[in-house]
Parts: sequence; C-alpha cells; structure tokens
Amino acid sequence: MTYEIRPVSEERFPDLVEVAETAFGEEGSEEGTRRFRAVTDLDRTVAAFDGDDIVGTNSSFAFSLTVPGGELPTAGVTLVGVPPTHRRRGILRDMMRYQLEDVHKRGEPLAILWASESNIYQRFGYGTAARMAFINILKERTAFLDSTPAVGQVKLLSPDDSLRALPPIYDKVRARTPGMYRRDETWWTEHTLYDHKDIREGMSPLFRAMWTHDDDAQAYATYRVKSDWDDDEGAPTGYVMVRELQATSPLALREMWRYIFGIDLVTRIKAYGQPMDDPLFFMLAEPRRLQTQIEDGLWLRVVDVRGALEGRSYSADGQVSFALRDDICPWNQGRYTLEVKSGEGRLTEAAGDVDLELSARELGAIYLGGTPLTSLLGAGRVVQNNPGAARKVDLMFYSEVTPRCPENF
Ligand SMILES: CC(C)(COP(=O)(O)OP(=O)(O)OC[C@H]1O[C@@H](n2cnc3c(N)ncnc32)[C@H](O)[C@@H]1OP(=O)(O)O)[C@@H](O)C(=O)NCCC(=O)NCCS
Repeated sequence: MTYEIRPVSEERFPDLVEVAETAFGEEGSEEGTRRFRAVTDLDRTVAAFDGDDIVGTNSSFAFSLTVPGGELPTAGVTLVGVPPTHRRRGILRDMMRYQLEDVHKRGEPLAILWASESNIYQRFGYGTAARMAFINILKERTAFLDSTPAVGQVKLLSPDDSLRALPPIYDKVRARTPGMYRRDETWWTEHTLYDHKDIREGMSPLFRAMWTHDDDAQAYATYRVKSDWDDDEGAPTGYVMVRELQATSPLALREMWRYIFGIDLVTRIKAYGQPMDDPLFFMLAEPRRLQTQIEDGLWLRVVDVRGALEGRSYSADGQVSFALRDDICPWNQGRYTLEVKSGEGRLTEAAGDVDLELSARELGAIYLGGTPLTSLLGAGRVVQNNPGAARKVDLMFYSEVTPRCPENF
C-alpha cells in the first residue's frame, strides 16, 4: 500500500474528523466537527491519503507551555488516529516523523500529548513528564486535619461570567506550574468550559464555582454531578466529578475543596488530572481515605535539545555531560555538556567521556522536573558512568511546583 502524508484542505476537514472518530470507535457529529475546527489550526493538521481516502489523521495545537522559569512554544499533539482497516502498517510512525520534522522547522523545542494508551509513544521519544492522580474519596471521610471554620464565599457563575473570572485565576497558577499552557478565549469556550449535552455522559451540566476572599477571587472548581439513588435504602449514591480545580494559595485550595465536599445528595467525590503530590492529601484528617490512582498524564518530547535545555531555568548550578540517543529526531543525537550558572543553562558539545547515557524519552520524562533521573536509573533506563551524576541532575532539574497538566487535549 502506498500513501502520502500531506496537509488537509478546509473541505476535507470534516472527513478527517470522521476518520479520527472512527479510529476512536466513536460517532462524529456536525457539532463535534465544528468544535474541533474552532480550536484546530489547519496549517498544523495533516492526513495520510490512500488515493483520495484519508487513512491517518494528526494535528497539533500551538501551545505556550510553562517550563521551570518561563514558557516555551510547544506542539500539543492531537487528533491522532488510523482507522482499523489500515492499522499496524506504519502509518502512525510516518505521521510522527512528519510531525516532529514540521515542529522542528517551526522552531518549537517541545511536543506534548496525552496518550489514549500508554504503550504507543515512548518509541517516538516521548517520556512521562507530569504524571497525574485520579482521586476518589467518600464524602463522609473528607474532614480536614485543621478544623478552622470556613472563610470566604463561593459563587456559582454563568458561562459568560466564568469567561471573565476564571482565566485570571488559571493564569496565576499556570505561570508557576510546569506542564500548564496558555488558553485563549476560544480554548476556554470550546474546550475547557465546553458543555454540549453530547459530552455529559449522563451527568449534570458543568457547574462553575468560584471562591472569593476579601473581594479577591482566588480559586475555582468546574464539576459535574452524577445523580443516582438506591431505592431500597432511600439514599443517594451519586458522586461529584471535579473537572478542574485551581487555587492560588493553600487557603484558597482548602476552601474550594471544602465547598466540593459539602455538595449534597452524593456519597463520593472524584477528580481527574490532580497533581502527583496533591496537597489535598496532606490537608485531610484521614489521608488514606483519599484513594489515589497514579497514571502517566502528560507526555513530553524534546524536539530540539538546545532550545529545550537552554529555554528553562535550573534549581542548582553545576555541570553534567551526557550522550543522547535519538533515532526519530537525529538532529538531537550527540554528546553534550550542560553547564548551569545562576540557574541558567548552556549546552555545548562534550569532549571526552560523559557522565550519563540516555535516550530522548528519558530526557522528555525529566525535562519539567517531575520525574527524577534517579528513578529512571533505578529502572535501568540510564547508564551512569560517574557515581552521583543522576542525583546531580535531579537537583538541577528539580521544580518547586510539581509539574501538572490539568486537562486532556
Ligand atoms: C494508535 C494508532 C494511531 C496506531 O496507528 P498505526 O498506524 O497502527 O501504528 P503503526 O503501524 O505506525 O505502529 C508503529 C508501532 O507502534 C506500535 N503500536 C501502535 N499502536 C499501538 C497500540 N495501540 N498498542 C501497542 N502498540 C502499538 C506498533 O505495533 C508498531 O510497533 P513497532 O514499531 O514495534 O513495529 C491506531 O491504532 C489508532 O488509531 N488507535 C485508536 C485511536 C488512538 O488510540 N489514537 C491515539 C490517540 S493518543
């Protein structure tokens, strides 16, 4: 079979969405296509064509991603699909190469994604950069360790008011949290706060709650309620599903959760996309009752090693040399010395023996400071030629705020 990868035209965009929906085993709709089109950049969207038929889909968003000490242009990989009729013939592999070359030409040093299955992307140099927690707690076990009374007020917002009030809170958290990206108004409307009935999956509309203290809006939560009832017991059995909860201080975080924990007619609270070391765990009187499932979360690939490593800051000065293997982005392959002075990194070619040997996916995993290199060393994924080198990298790459990407894209 021969196929060609090339950009899609406006006219073929609905076909591309339909093929992607089929690949995911889902049904497309006019509304779904409209929504994808609203957030998709056609110039970054390609298809694999078998004649006139689309047999592979791939796109990316032009994100600005928070990294330690700043922000970098980053491709947010999305709409990846190959229909069941054409699987396992190398179409994804070719689309990945095509996309990474394109991202490189655009001068974006990083690519990120959420994976449908966690066995797909490591072969393309992606590493688990910001793992996420899925939490689940019985409402009756949500007492706080600190029993101080509630402060501040919570208000439920209309969609229009949310569009004005939530972005400033998000932006404060985003500015200091590696793994979060800028959202423009279209993104807020068509993605974060999007609430068409087709995507509710039997749950309530999306509620938007904001916590204010001393006239200062400091936290918000978006959530749905899944109502259910046990007729034999005459009692509710539903749950609250928190979509996103952002807070600018520990007090704001506690008070926002206090509101969520107080919602009536449910027995459980669940939330997806929480940080790995969720401060909520340390706020509770019974932390074990916060059932936590850790998943891979955000995957990151270093597309341009120099742009990436010189584009973030470091929490410890020092010098480390490494050999980087990268078959998919061969321009990265080489031996480097990373020298950090006053928190700023400079990458040069390494002369002589190197401290560490690793591949692109290990570099992607440690990049945001959320995965210690010593963990990868323990997993046998890194060669350490000088004792203590991986530990030194941990200290240099450390991020004070745990990297986190709160939403899937
Ligand atoms: C995932 C998907 C895009 C793969 O497309 P594909 O064209 O079949 O992939 P390729 O043939 O290029 O496979 C490349 C390699 O990845 C492996 N691979 C691809 N998808 C895999 C999967 N779901 N599970 C395990 N391995 C997978 C292949 O076996 C192959 O391995 P190899 O290099 O050792 O030979 C396709 O199966 C699909 O559309 N799945 C449903 C939608 C989806 O999950 N999309 C991804 C969204 S993040």
